Amino acid sequence: MTETIHISAPGRVNLIGDHTDYTGGLVMPMTLDARTTVVGQANPSQMWNLISLDEPVSLSIELPIQDPSSVLPRWGRYVAGVLFELGQLGIEVPGFTGEISTTIPIGSGLSSSAALEIAIARTALSIAHVELPDTDIALLCQRAEHIASGVPCGIMDQLCIAIGQPNAATLIDCHTLEVQHIAMPDEIEVVTRFISHRTLAGSEYSDRVADCQNIEGIIGPLRLARISDAENIADQRLSRRARHVITENQRVRDFASALSQKDFRTAGELMVASHASLANDYETSNEAMDQAVKTMMNEPGFLGARMTGGGFGGCIVGIRHRT
Ligand code: GLA
Repeated sequence: MTETIHISAPGRVNLIGDHTDYTGGLVMPMTLDARTTVVGQANPSQMWNLISLDEPVSLSIELPIQDPSSVLPRWGRYVAGVLFELGQLGIEVPGFTGEISTTIPIGSGLSSSAALEIAIARTALSIAHVELPDTDIALLCQRAEHIASGVPCGIMDQLCIAIGQPNAATLIDCHTLEVQHIAMPDEIEVVTRFISHRTLAGSEYSDRVADCQNIEGIIGPLRLARISDAENIADQRLSRRARHVITENQRVRDFASALSQKDFRTAGELMVASHASLANDYETSNEAMDQAVKTMMNEPGFLGARMTGGGFGGCIVGIRHRT
């Protein structure tokens, strides 16, 4: 009898360090309990047949994948993107018949698409009897995301999901891809709150990536830049964008050391400063998110709150004393 595969991958929430990953900066996300699960069996055909409990139309695609960006239904592009990238690496994957389910809210900025990519990649590698390092899996899923959604995302979501450990934040240097797992102190609870549905495709996300490319054309790599470099940029918009990235990288460093010293007040203040920088300098927040952050900060026990992820909607995240 053919073995039944059962593979899942978690969503993620970013504690601090947003819009830094695609310039090789620092980020500190953590995995969620919510997960996307793939259950099914390899088959001797060249077909991948998948149903998703959250989507009305099922997916049927034939290997080798030629053009993942035109696959329908659209959710299938994430699957096709991953299978295409595995093909590019010369990995021969058999057919598969299965079912996808998720407890990650879709389109809420908690990386449901990256979780789907990682779960599919691990499923495909398992039935192909091939092992790849977590970092390589994350990189191939990032390329799949670019193809599937057209969004030029960084590596944060895929790498956190591929490598993150339960109850620990994942401090990632997005230039070297070095990862440090930082246990979340027991005294602190992380709270994620949904604000609105959003998709980064068609948002200003790619404009921000383009701004950063322009900035780097002027002052060199943002990850190495100082605040004085940002101040020297004549274009005021680009100067503010640069200031966000440079100060956000420093906030990630400071947040990591505040957590390890159990200085939760400072950690919370850094989250609030991160939100202000994303709202004012980077302009990826909106009124509903700004308001939600204020409301959260007025609730008992909260030390910090901020928008999380790409922005333009999605979720906010906060930390509070565990009661
Ligand atoms: C999205 C992208 C990530 C990252 C964040 C912002 O989640 O997928 O790569 O850029 O936005 O920090």
